Amino acid sequence: MKKLLLILISLFCTSEIMAAGGGYYIGEKVQTNIRSVDSLRNGAKTYMNYCMGCHSMDFQRYNRVAEDLGLNEDEMMNGLVLTDAKFTDKMTIAMSDEHAKKWFGKSPPDLSVIAKARGLDWLYNFLINYYADPKSVTGWNNLTLPNASMPHILWELQGIRTANFEVSTDEEGNELKEFKNFETVEAGKLNEQEYKDLARDLVNFLDYSSEPAQLIRMSLAPWVLLFVSLFTFLAYMLKVNYFKDIH
Ligand code: HEC
Repeated sequence: MKKLLLILISLFCTSEIMAAGGGYYIGEKVQTNIRSVDSLRNGAKTYMNYCMGCHSMDFQRYNRVAEDLGLNEDEMMNGLVLTDAKFTDKMTIAMSDEHAKKWFGKSPPDLSVIAKARGLDWLYNFLINYYADPKSVTGWNNLTLPNASMPHILWELQGIRTANFEVSTDEEGNELKEFKNFETVEAGKLNEQEYKDLARDLVNFLDYSSEPAQLIRMSLAPWVLLFVSLFTFLAYMLKVNYFKDIH
């Protein structure tokens, strides 16, 4: 019974464990659902539109994503993908490392397994916690990845916000900065909830991409549990039968 409980717990908690942040600002947690095809499609669409300009996903292919998201070749290549890539291509990008470094100071990492590396809560907070900062090179800063060299790509959707900090000094004279709140300077195309939903779907897609086999694993799980319960029941009946004459 204990083992069964452990299996159950680990099945449902893997994403929670992966989500452990690592000392960065995590204002709120994200609830994703990898079995929601609509959410994955939305996430894929945002990814193709806004992220693929700079980030590759070398371990993914367009046809694999299409198959997993229930899209045919036309829906995928004409509906989601903006480049003239082929259906069987890997999701690589044209920008070279050298150019990227020149433009951004850092090259944008491949995002194939970023969900495993950073965790879902981190990614979600990174996407929702940008603010305008005239002191930074890009004009943007981020609570979750301070001094990020990636600008706020989704600013037109989220709008422009500034951040207020409470600054104090500790006993040794070091400056301490504590985040207080955001102030909206210019509203975006989406309202706050719509933007958070978009970020959640994008994180969901990144989670799926980091391990596409999750979909199969998740759909197999109920059957595995059913088999385990059935087998336990049979074993129990057998035991009852064997022991019925032993007193
Ligand atoms: C204009 C180019 C550009 C675009 C477009 C872009 N990024 Fe980035 N991204 C970068 C750069 C440069 C970095 C490196 C930032 C750093 O480490 O300071 C980065 C870093 C990241 C990281 C952090 C990786 C890490 O672990 O440090 C994540 C996550 C990320 N990007 C996700 C996205 C998502 C999601 C999108 C689409 C909404 C996107 N990026 C669009 C340039 C871009």
